[in-house]
Amino acid sequence: MGASGTTFVLAVLAATVLNSAVLCSGGSTSSFVRKDEKSGDMPLDSDVFNVPPGHNAPQQVHITQGDHIGKAVIVSWVTVEEPGSNTVLYWAENSGHKHKAKGKVTKYKFYNYTSGYIHHCTIRNLEYDTKYYYEVGIGHTTRTFWFTTPPEVGPDVPYTFGLIGDLGQTYDSNSTLTHYEQNPTKGQTVLFVGDLSYADNYPNHDNVRWDTWARFVERSVAYQPWIWTAGNHELDYAPEIGETKPFKPFTHRYHVPFKSSNSTSPLWYSIKRASAYVIVLSSYSAYGKYTPQYKWLEQELPKVNRSETPWLIVLLHSPWYNSNHYHYMEGESMRVMFEPWFVKYKVDVVFAGHVHAYERSHRVSNIAYNVVNGICTPVNDLSAPVYITIGDGGNIEGLANNMTVPQPEYSAFREASFGHATFDIKNRTHAYYGWHRNQDGYAVQADTMWFSNRYWNPIDDSTSAQS
Ligand SMILES: *[C@@H]1O[C@H](CO)[C@@H](O)[C@H](O)[C@H]1NC(C)=O
Ligand SMILES: *[C@@H]1O[C@H](CO)[C@@H](O)[C@H](O)[C@H]1NC(C)=O
Ligand SMILES: *[C@@H]1O[C@H](CO)[C@@H](O)[C@H](O)[C@H]1NC(C)=O
Ligand SMILES: *[C@@H]1O[C@H](CO)[C@@H](O)[C@H](O)[C@H]1NC(C)=O
Ligand SMILES: *[C@@H]1O[C@H](CO)[C@@H](O)[C@H](O)[C@H]1NC(C)=O
Ligand SMILES: *[C@@H]1O[C@H](CO)[C@@H](O)[C@H](O)[C@H]1NC(C)=O
Ligand SMILES: [Fe+2]
Repeated sequence: MGASGTTFVLAVLAATVLNSAVLCSGGSTSSFVRKDEKSGDMPLDSDVFNVPPGHNAPQQVHITQGDHIGKAVIVSWVTVEEPGSNTVLYWAENSGHKHKAKGKVTKYKFYNYTSGYIHHCTIRNLEYDTKYYYEVGIGHTTRTFWFTTPPEVGPDVPYTFGLIGDLGQTYDSNSTLTHYEQNPTKGQTVLFVGDLSYADNYPNHDNVRWDTWARFVERSVAYQPWIWTAGNHELDYAPEIGETKPFKPFTHRYHVPFKSSNSTSPLWYSIKRASAYVIVLSSYSAYGKYTPQYKWLEQELPKVNRSETPWLIVLLHSPWYNSNHYHYMEGESMRVMFEPWFVKYKVDVVFAGHVHAYERSHRVSNIAYNVVNGICTPVNDLSAPVYITIGDGGNIEGLANNMTVPQPEYSAFREASFGHATFDIKNRTHAYYGWHRNQDGYAVQADTMWFSNRYWNPIDDSTSAQS
């Protein structure tokens, strides 16, 4: 072969390589490059960690849904000097009549740390769509907050969820929370996809950082429910210091209404809220066949009535579709167990965290594989959920900016930045989703999509996405 022949072969080869790279590459990897600087945890004397004034003042106030249908709220807070009162006083905005609910107090030790008095009180039989004030504490040190109950569960009730994951307590975390608060699309409830305080990054998992985290986020979670998912940073498993009971700090501090959905563990449960049915799963609890979580989910999915709650949303920590080298394939075994059910029951969207970056998938499934048939590539599937990784809250571990190349076809958009998202349900057929980066203006959306409900409007909605 002459020189020109060689050049020709090389050119064809190059074209083939280029072409296959184009074919293999699915969506887009954002060209936006965020400064890769770890921001440290905010120091203990930061404004966001201030202890409220007054003797034994309630601190770390937080609320979450308290039943299956949105007519109850769990109010939690911590008192440090003494147990104080267990009572929550509450009243509807337009009523002078004050009600009382009595809660319970708990405490725990973690190595050489002893918690304050942790109070949990469930307020029941609330009216839907009503603003309530509530007061905790006694004597001269009471504190008053408020929340609005969701509208009655129904198929066309508009409702806006915020999405936050892997938050931690750095300057970036504070920026994420501020962006959520200042977002012109007002979130009414946060779906939190796990990894709260990152206290376990400190020597002996210094649980003081669980307290500071709860004071930091109080400015949001005392006024609107955050729906909790457990992540790996909630495990606090530390046999080297004698701490062998997983999830000890998390389960003492954060109560969820798991019994209302007939779950036997606070780590997996479900709620209905407005037009959504939210299922929370635990990536760090057993989910193999015959396990409690498996059996619960098997019985749970057929109960979802899409005529009542059209939007079926799943929260879990470790993503099933993640094209980042960071935590690559960690969600795989759970995907193998549960993905056929998600397709069968037409889950609309799965939100996960864990990976400290942002990614949105196409509607894909990977359920044909049976070990011997070699069919192991995700395929487009209009019955499948969209998978969104929103583990970009901004914790101390920094960004996950090492992505697999080429971008797999299932991946629609990915970017290593910090931020949050909103899922804005309009009616039974449409929901508007938007992802926000921290370094942009509060109103700027860096990735958006109109979701078409999988039960009522199962069209191909991927074309509505804009990044
Ligand atoms: C716990 O032990 C560590 C060292 O093991 C020490 O630095 C810390 O001050 C102790 N904390 C308390 C509350 O005793
Ligand atoms: C956190 O953000 C809030 C609201 O933007 C601000 O008032 C506060 O000073 C910030 N704190 C720190 C330590 O950055
Ligand atoms: C829980 O189980 C009880 C008894 O079987 C049943 O009446 C109730 O409807 C179940 N609740 C949910 C939310 O599935
Ligand atoms: C599903 O919900 C609709 C609307 O609330 C109701 O009419 C219907 O009876 C429910 N179906 C079942 C099987 O409960
Ligand atoms: C990215 O991840 C791959 C696979 O784990 C690793 O080989 C490579 O060194 C990483 N690159 C960087 C820049 O960290
Ligand atoms: C549902 O909401 C979408 C988006 O706002 C709107 O275009 C559509 O007309 C609504 N459907 C109904 C039945 O109102
Ligand atoms: Fe995680």
